[in-house]
Formats: sequence, C-alpha cells, structure tokens
Amino acid sequence: MLWCSLLLAVPAFAQDGDGADGDGGAAPAPAQGAPAGGLSTDEAVIASGKEIFDANCKQCHAVNEKVVGPALAKVYDRRDLKWLINFIKYPQKVIESGDPYAVALYKEYNQFMPNHDFLKDDQIVAILSWVKKETDNPTITAGPAGGGGTGGASAEDSNTGGGSGVLTAVVVVLAGLLVVVLAVLALLSSVLVKYLQKEKNFSEEDREVLEQKVNWGKVFGSQAFLGIVSFIFLALVGKVTTESLIGVGIQQGYAPTQPIPFSHKLHAGQYEIDCKYCHTGVERAKSANIPSANICMNCHNAIKTTSPDIQKIYAALEKDEPIQWVRVHNLPDLAYFNHQQHVKVGGLECENCHGNIKEMEVVQQASLLTMGWCIDCHRKTDVNAKGNAYYDNLVQLHNSSSKQPLKVEDIGGLECSKCHY
Ligand code: HEC
Ligand code: HEC
Ligand code: HEC
Ligand code: HEC
Ligand code: HEC
Ligand code: HEC
Repeated sequence: MLWCSLLLAVPAFAQDGDGADGDGGAAPAPAQGAPAGGLSTDEAVIASGKEIFDANCKQCHAVNEKVVGPALAKVYDRRDLKWLINFIKYPQKVIESGDPYAVALYKEYNQFMPNHDFLKDDQIVAILSWVKKETDNPTITAGPAGGGGTGGASAEDSNTGGGSGVLTAVVVVLAGLLVVVLAVLALLSSVLVKYLQKEKNFSEEDREVLEQKVNWGKVFGSQAFLGIVSFIFLALVGKVTTESLIGVGIQQGYAPTQPIPFSHKLHAGQYEIDCKYCHTGVERAKSANIPSANICMNCHNAIKTTSPDIQKIYAALEKDEPIQWVRVHNLPDLAYFNHQQHVKVGGLECENCHGNIKEMEVVQQASLLTMGWCIDCHRKTDVNAKGNAYYDNLVQLHNSSSKQPLKVEDIGGLECSKCHY
C-alpha cells in the first residue's frame, strides 16, 4: 500500500532531528555548486558569504580575533572543506563522534556551537570564501556601517527556528503530495470503473466486485487505520514535548526586539563609548545595571533630537517612567552571579561571556548560561592573582603542593553554596 508507507514515512521523518536533508547524519554531502578543490574568489560569492556570516556567525566569531569561538583566519588550512562543512552543520555530532580535532576544540571552548544544518553547502563555501578574502586582505572598516539592522533579528530566527522550520515545511509538502496522490488514484479508479461498466461480457462475480462500494465506515473503524493515526499522533506529541523539555530555560541566541532600537554596534562599536559609562555596576556591584534615560540625555539632549526614536526617550522622562527594556540575560532566582567578582576581581572581559557586543545591532544572548557553563569555566580558568595581595598566601600554599596554576575551582568555585542561596 503506497499511501500507507508514505504515511509511515512522515513520523519517521519527524523524529529525525537532522532537518530537511534526512540523509544529513555525520556523513557530509559533497559540496554542491562549490568550485572543485575549494573556495571561490568570485566577488558575488564573497559578498553573499559576508552577509550569511553577519547573520549567523558574527555574534561568536571574528576573522582575526577570538570571540566566543575561535578566530576563523586560515581555518581552511587547518581543516579540509568537507570536514568544515560537516562541522559547521553538525558541530555537536562531530564532537560526540570523537573526532580528535573537534574534541580538542570543545575542551578549549567548553561550548557547543549551534547546528547550522539549515545552511546549504554552497552557502558555507561562500562564508569560508569571504573568510579567506578577509584573512588575505582585511577590509578596514571605518565610518558608519549602514543597513545592519536585520543582522541580529535574522540570527535569532535561524538559531531558534531554522532546522525545525524546514522540517515542518517538508512534512507539509509530503502531506500535500499524499493528498494529490490519493486524488489521482480516486480519479483513476472511477474512470476505470466507468470504462469497465460498459464492458458486457463479465461473469456475475466480476460484476459484483465492480459494483461494490467502498465501505468508508469500515475503513476508518479498522484497527490498521486507527493504529496508523495514533502512531502519527504519538510521534508528533513526543517530538514536540522532548524538544520543548530539552530547551526549557535555555535561551542561547535570545534577541528580543527592544522598545527603542538602541544599537550597541553604533554606540559601543563605532563611537567607542565605554561599556562602564552606561553599565555602571560592572566593577562595583552584583548587577551590571541598565542605564537610566538620564544617561542617554547626556548626549541626546543635543544629538538627533528630532529622531522619533530619541523622542521616545524624552517621552519617558516627561512621564517619569523608565524605558521598558526587555531583559535578555536572566538567571533563575536560585543562582547567584556577581559582575564585580568576575570583571573587577577576576579580570574577565565582557566578551568572554556576552560575545561580540560591539558588533551587535540587537543584543543577543551569546552563552548558554547553564550551570555547566559556569562550572566549566571555573574548572579551567586561572585565578587572576597578579597584584592582588589577598591571594598571595593562597597562591604560595597552592604552589607548594601542586604544579598546576591556581584555578577558580581551587578557591571554592565549585561549591554549591557559592552560587546558590
Ligand atoms: C553561539 C556561538 C557560535 C556561533 C553562532 C557560531 N559559532 Fe562557530 N564556534 C563556536 C565555538 C564555541 C567553537 C569552538 C568549538 C566548540 O567548542 O564547539 C566554534 C568553532 C568553529 C569552527 C572551527 C574553528 C577552528 O579553529 O577549527 C568553525 C570553522 C566555525 N566555528 C564556523 C562557524 C560558522 C561559519 C558560523 C556561522 C554559520 C558559526 N561558526 C557560528 C561558537 C559559535
Ligand atoms: C550608551 C549606553 C550603552 C553602552 C555604551 C553600552 N550599553 Fe549595553 N545596554 C545599554 C542599554 C540601553 C541596554 C538595554 C537595551 C538592549 O538590550 O539593547 C543594554 C543592554 C546590554 C546587555 C543585555 C542586558 C540584558 O538585558 O540582559 C548587555 C550584555 C550589554 N548591554 C553589554 C554591553 C557591553 C559589553 C558594552 C561595551 C562593549 C555595552 N553594553 C555598552 C546601553 C549601553
Ligand atoms: C556618549 C554619547 C551618547 C550616549 C550616552 C547615548 N547616545 Fe545614542 N547616539 C549617540 C550618537 C553619536 C548617535 C549617532 C547620531 C547620528 O547618527 O548622527 C546616537 C544615535 C542613537 C540612536 C539612533 C537615532 C536615529 O534615529 O538615528 C538611538 C535610537 C539612540 N542613540 C539611543 C540611545 C539611548 C536609548 C541611549 C541611552 C541608553 C543613548 N542613545 C545614549 C550618542 C550617544
Ligand atoms: C563571567 C561571565 C560574565 C562577564 C565577564 C560579564 N557578564 Fe554580564 N552577565 C553575565 C550573566 C550570567 C548575566 C545574567 C545575570 C542575572 O540574570 O542575574 C549578565 C547580565 C548582564 C547585564 C544585564 C543586567 C544584569 O546585571 O543582570 C548586563 C547589562 C551585562 N551583563 C553587562 C556586562 C558588561 C558591560 C560586562 C563587561 C564589563 C559584563 N557584563 C561581563 C555574565 C557575565
Ligand atoms: C568566563 C569564565 C567564567 C564564567 C563563564 C563564570 N565564572 Fe564565576 N568566576 C570566574 C573567575 C575567573 C572567578 C574568580 C574571581 C576571583 O578571583 O575571585 C569566578 C568566581 C566566581 C564566584 C566566587 C567564587 C569564590 O570562591 O569566591 C562565584 C560565586 C561565581 N564565580 C559564580 C558564577 C556563576 C553563577 C556563573 C554562571 C552564571 C559563573 N560564575 C560563570 C570565571 C567565570
Ligand atoms: C559556579 C556556579 C554554580 C555552582 C558551583 C553550582 N551551581 Fe547549581 N546552578 C548554577 C546556575 C547558574 C544554575 C541555573 C542554570 C539554568 O538555569 O540552566 C544552577 C541550577 C541548579 C539547579 C536547578 C536545576 C537546573 O539544572 O536548572 C540545581 C538543583 C543545582 N543547580 C544544584 C547544585 C548543586 C547541588 C551544586 C553543588 C554540587 C551546585 N548546583 C553548584 C550555578 C552553580
């Protein structure tokens, strides 16, 4: 039964989390549309590569510096194209397969990069072609880089929806095909029946078969039919619940739309305003602080005063109401995190945890913010003890018994009570 096996194929598909190209798996497909032997030097390909990079990779990668992930300069010399395509699509799978290079990377960065299985092979080739061009002769970016506004938003789409969006589309298309096939079959059968009825020399038995009406009630009531329907139903319910359970509370990539389109790329990137000018708490408090409208007014009482977005700042001040910024990073109440401890005492950069904010048109959560993420960093990060007399005795004591440098875990960074009230 053709339609039966087609129907069965749908839930099998839905359970396979790999996205549209069901054959995805660990084995990479050959790079379609890629010039034989590697990367393209075609201007148009390179330009499209930059666009795809900006929308999907920029919050974590730069070409010539380390951000959340490694600097991508010369990555095409470190690994071959086939490996790169596979890794960029399914990083977690490659790491879990035990690939030594990928495992070493993961040990160093302690973070899975998200799947990019919604990208086509030639789109990845385009990204890498741009990376090669940027490695060989980097563009000097100066002055306003206009028209970026969509970067953050589309990155959000692809992070959260990409793979399963394609999957839904495939299921819908398959269901559509099924309906068409059924309609054609029904048409064929009625044409055949009409044709055969004109035929005179039939036995009684044959005529009975011919005039038999399909008993739909019986078909819908049959065990086979009910079995198939409940199987599809359970498979879909199972898929939706497991997906949402795994994702509960994890919001990597979250980039809500803000009431005023405040751009970090413009203020912190292009105009190089210090993070601390606005986030006044980072060196002396638990919370980093979101600036009040008064801080905006230090400049915007004179800059762009007629812009409708700046008018919203005036309106907030007039009504004496704070601007309703949507919170991006949000640990549950049971966890305690302190900025001063990490930025001032620990000497960490904002980028270590927040990604390349200076490039973000819309702020996006770059790290996982799970307990495992905190702990991993505490296991591998050295305590910043230089010039901190508080640590002198501790370091001496530690060095007398260990050859390893003093890590955060050695000063209690893995104790439950340090992070939980
Ligand atoms: C949320 C952060 C994040 C995003 C988004 C991201 N990456 Fe990564 N990337 C990482 C991390 C972290 C690593 C290090 C490997 C690991 O721990 O999984 C990495 C590793 C890599 C590597 C291997 C680098 C090397 O030195 O061998 C490549 C290539 C790469 N990423 C390309 C991309 C491309 C292309 C995109 C966009 C389509 C992208 N990444 C998006 C975080 C990210
Ligand atoms: C001119 C003021 C200003 C400067 C300078 C600035 N920020 Fe912000 N930042 C804001 C405002 C306003 C928000 C809230 C709106 C938003 O999320 O875009 C914000 C939000 C954030 C958030 C997200 C907060 C949340 O809701 O979880 C992070 C992280 C952040 N900034 C980091 C930085 C870093 C890192 C720098 C320096 C590279 C920086 N900011 C420079 C004004 C500023
Ligand atoms: C240290 C000065 C400074 C501070 C503080 C500052 N801005 Fe700006 N802002 C600028 C400059 C400079 C521009 C770019 C003006 C231009 O494009 O001509 C700008 C542009 C903008 C724009 C784009 C306006 C438009 O229509 O093009 C918005 C929105 C904005 N700022 C919001 C804010 C908010 C909200 C705050 C407070 C959290 C803030 N700014 C704080 C200097 C500042
Ligand atoms: C060790 C990691 C880490 C570093 C380094 C770090 N942050 Fe954060 N940041 C976080 C976490 C985790 C949160 C969420 C805190 C919460 O929900 O209680 C956060 C939240 C924020 C917020 C939202 C407001 C708040 O305090 O909850 C802002 C703004 C912010 N960070 C700015 C910065 C700036 C600016 C720097 C650099 C000077 C920086 N952060 C350095 C981890 C870090
Ligand atoms: C990028 C690395 C990094 C990440 C991520 C990180 N931390 Fe830390 N943390 C440090 C460093 C470095 C110190 C040591 C600071 C010092 O010298 O006191 C530290 C210290 C601490 C301490 C004080 C420990 C003590 O014994 O004094 C607490 C509590 C803490 N972190 C909580 C958290 C929580 C909660 C998270 C996750 C939301 C987190 N950290 C994520 C690097 C990190
Ligand atoms: C370095 C900081 C840190 C340390 C040390 C730590 N936790 Fe957590 N823990 C967190 C953070 C942050 C979360 C919230 C994670 C999230 O929302 O995904 C969390 C969440 C939890 C949760 C809630 C369940 C969950 O996964 O969301 C439990 C239970 C928990 N921790 C127990 C412990 C116990 C027991 C210890 C000691 C063995 C411990 N934690 C040590 C940071 C820490």
